[in-house]
Amino acid sequence: MKQTYILGIESSCDDTSAAVILHDVILSNVTAGQDVHKNFGGVVPELASRAHQQNIIPVIDTAIQKANIRKNQLSAVAFTRGPGLLGSLLVGTSFAKAFSLGLNIPLIEVDHLQAHILSHFIRNESHTNPVPEFPFLCLTVSGGHTQIVLIRDYFDMEVIGQTIDDAAGEAFDKSAKIMGLPYPGGPLIDKLARDGNPGRFTFSKPVIPGLDFSFSGLKTSFLYFLRDELKKDPDFIEKNKHDLSASIQATIIEILMAKLALALEKTRNLNTRNGYLDVAIAGGVSANSGLRQALENAREARGWNIFIPPIQYSTDNAAMIAVAGYFKFLKGAFGSQSDVPYARAKRT
Ligand code: KG4
Ligand code: ZN
Repeated sequence: MKQTYILGIESSCDDTSAAVILHDVILSNVTAGQDVHKNFGGVVPELASRAHQQNIIPVIDTAIQKANIRKNQLSAVAFTRGPGLLGSLLVGTSFAKAFSLGLNIPLIEVDHLQAHILSHFIRNESHTNPVPEFPFLCLTVSGGHTQIVLIRDYFDMEVIGQTIDDAAGEAFDKSAKIMGLPYPGGPLIDKLARDGNPGRFTFSKPVIPGLDFSFSGLKTSFLYFLRDELKKDPDFIEKNKHDLSASIQATIIEILMAKLALALEKTRNLNTRNGYLDVAIAGGVSANSGLRQALENAREARGWNIFIPPIQYSTDNAAMIAVAGYFKFLKGAFGSQSDVPYARAKRT
């Protein structure tokens, strides 16, 4: 059998990443982050696309070298087409198109959100790591999206719940910003929360029917709470940063877990194995240690069959683009030179 090597390229936001996959086994996954946004409280699109331009050649070169293959062994090139920042997506898209033309290999367009989910199908060399069974649920939580997705097959996905305002990652990042922490604040809150008391402060949770989420009210109540406390004590944040982080993190996790539990109840009838569907998490916020622990607890206490991606496949990475590209390659689902990036999520 001919070996299928695929180069994956991810450039949707502020990480330039390239990966090489042999079938569904990752050979290399190289990512260059961008520190330039740290002091701006969020990603600055113009700076992001410039940094992608600088990083893309060395990142791809390194990924191919680390995979220990030659360019002309590649069977196809897969790239993130969207959703994301257009100026960022254009860098990866243009590179992929040129590469495909230069090497005369097929081009494969990949949806970033589908790829986060498909990262669960990356296998170890001996194919012994468990993967979810169709149909399963995935809670996709990133800086731009918060969705509960029902996955019937690799590319047959239905969004059954989503945020009506901010994403979970934004809730972390905006709370961090209110506390004066640099961007992206999610990982910093996670770190501070480890030494804090999650029950110290309580914040009101939104009442949203069904499987949809809302996080903008939580951010506002956090802002007003801190504004009032700072009037009494200007050092309130500094003195309480661990408890504040632990409490806001716990509230976000409770909101996510409650909707996930509801989604599992609602989809019980779809499970032929007579229990809950398998449940996975994906996206940058799935790196959060509190969320990972909450899922482990649910595995123990409620018997959920959970799938948590390794940290390197939680946040943005090209390995997930490469594996999604591999499954499209198997179907012969190729893109074309006229594929243009899209900024907003497709309704899957
Ligand atoms: O998937 P991702 O890398 O990029 C997008 O597609 O948006 O997600 C980035 C988001 C950011 O909001 C970041 O703060 C959040 O994921 N994040 C975390 C953690 N690591 C990344 N949030 C909470 N705890 C973490 N450990
Ligand atoms: Zn992402």
